[in-house]
Amino acid sequence: MSNITGTMETFIEEACESIRKEAAGRPVLCALSGGVDSAVCAVLAHRAVGDALTCLFVDTGFMRKSEGDQVTALFRGTYAINLIRVDAEQRFLARLAGVTEPELKRKHIGEEFIRVFEEEARKLGKIGCLVQGTIYPDIMESGGDGYKQVKAHHNVGGMPLNIDFEAVIEPVKLLYKEEVRECGRMLGLPEAFAGRQPFPGPGLAVRCLGALTKPRLDLLREADAIFREEIEKAGLNKELQQYFAILPGVRSVGVRDGARCYEETIALRAITTRDFVTAGVPRLPWDVLEAAAARITSEVPGVNRVVVDVTPKPPATVEWE
Ligand code: XMP
Repeated sequence: MSNITGTMETFIEEACESIRKEAAGRPVLCALSGGVDSAVCAVLAHRAVGDALTCLFVDTGFMRKSEGDQVTALFRGTYAINLIRVDAEQRFLARLAGVTEPELKRKHIGEEFIRVFEEEARKLGKIGCLVQGTIYPDIMESGGDGYKQVKAHHNVGGMPLNIDFEAVIEPVKLLYKEEVRECGRMLGLPEAFAGRQPFPGPGLAVRCLGALTKPRLDLLREADAIFREEIEKAGLNKELQQYFAILPGVRSVGVRDGARCYEETIALRAITTRDFVTAGVPRLPWDVLEAAAARITSEVPGVNRVVVDVTPKPPATVEWE
């Protein structure tokens, strides 16, 4: 399935030409999330307009381990793109303090994100164009291009910003996800970006059940990094669409150094799916799970138990909140 005619090389050339035309010499802003869609858009826009492009990356504090540093190193270092990184962890933690209800978490995070983004964009002065990473399935799901609406998608039409951009440019709006990845590889994106697994906008906040505090998020970040490392070491990442850790907020009794302990539980989840509307649970090799559990319980202070989520979607969703 493809909407593009010709090769990916031609697509890249034409996309750059089209961005250049739409920008028409005006400054261009691109919101970077760390995901593959916005990363590809940023690199295309940079090819098209060079230093007229500014990228904005908001670190919410809900990113995975080292993610913010990786985004910064790649775009500033490798691509020499003008990148503004906003460290908004404190703001998000303050706003989310005491919020435990999943939908409310999402609402607060969405609103705070828009607020931070608007503030930072305004500091830049007049910006003519916004580049967005809308892809074709977003348009289909939102009922565009003759498709029946499945769900309103946050990408289409953009974030509800109170900023009037003269133009919104969507360079990859005709591409399917795999094509975006292919385009990214052709543009030289490292596999960590081009092959990146989907990560929800609210990030670890919807995998850290209950209160969002820095120590709880740090604990989850460490456990998640270990699980991902073990999956990748076993070469299973290519077969899985998502694999991650969850902090369910369940404490249980255990034994550590010969004494009773009462510590957190980490849940591990891996899924296979074609469309994320339904998802299956793969039978992960026991030695991989054992290695992950052994490392998490010994390397992450405060975790004495690891469990595995074996529930498909439906009835469960991929994310826990
Ligand atoms: P669920 O949990 O609904 O997830 O089965 C389906 C897919 O969507 C991702 N997901 C999100 N992606 N913003 C996003 O960009 C969100 O708020 C969000 N919530 C879930 C999830 O990771 C999975 O790939």
